[in-house]
Amino acid sequence: MLIAKTIEETKEIIKEVKSKGFSTGFVPTMGALHEGHFELIRKAKNENDFVSCSIFVNPIQFNKTEDLKKYPRTIEDDIKKLNELDCDLVFNPSVEEMYPKPDNTIYDFGGLEKVMEGKFRPGHFNGVAVVVKKLFDIIEPDRSYFGEKDFQQLTIIKALVKKLKMPVKIVPCHTVREPDGLAMSSRNRRLTDDERKIAPAIYRALKTISEIASNKSVKELKGFFIQQLRKYPQMEIEYFEISNIEDLSPVEEFEKGKKYVACTAVFLGKVRLIDNVSINL
Ligand code: PAF
Repeated sequence: MLIAKTIEETKEIIKEVKSKGFSTGFVPTMGALHEGHFELIRKAKNENDFVSCSIFVNPIQFNKTEDLKKYPRTIEDDIKKLNELDCDLVFNPSVEEMYPKPDNTIYDFGGLEKVMEGKFRPGHFNGVAVVVKKLFDIIEPDRSYFGEKDFQQLTIIKALVKKLKMPVKIVPCHTVREPDGLAMSSRNRRLTDDERKIAPAIYRALKTISEIASNKSVKELKGFFIQQLRKYPQMEIEYFEISNIEDLSPVEEFEKGKKYVACTAVFLGKVRLIDNVSINL
């Protein structure tokens, strides 16, 4: 497995790979890798001749310095695991390498970036879009793999690629869950033992919502979610929305024939967890 720290050496490697006619897959990450990321790598390995993974904690997508500071960093374990998975290239640049000067690009995704995560983490998706565009320009992948756990991010990346007409196929991958249902996340390792025990209640409530949705109104489903999580005083719901799956606009009523996604962010103690389920009426 090759490890590159600079843009120049990464571009050289990619140029050579492409000159051999190899197809290229790419998994962008911020490290602290877990089974969810490993599934993305495995899928990329199945579908491409050469797979790259980036590990870069992107400072400009954190709207709170505290959150950036606390973001888990486990580079040695990450590299060991990527090696075992037969990943071909790890791109692990420094902040100075990625941002020799501030990048002030502002993207407009027609409102996709303003709801849910975007509402509570201003500037977050702009930071994601800036770094993903840079990474795509460096790695030039044929396919890039994103988890559905970050459903809004996935939707925005698809919009970015469409807007900039980038020649990369975005491949969505199912959320990988712990056996008790908790969505895999780098943040899970910051939960205390007690918090970890109750964390699966978030997915339990979401799953029930997806099962009962056809007989209920949006208001009733919201009420149900709040009621389920109220059982745990350690939990605080930041938002729970049922949104149109296409434009992510939160809805108050269901319309026949449309598809929806129920998304939430919940603070469990100091850790902010997000999850979602699709709603097919
Ligand atoms: O999902 C993530 O880990 C990050 O938002 C991404 C896509 C790697 C950009 O920094």
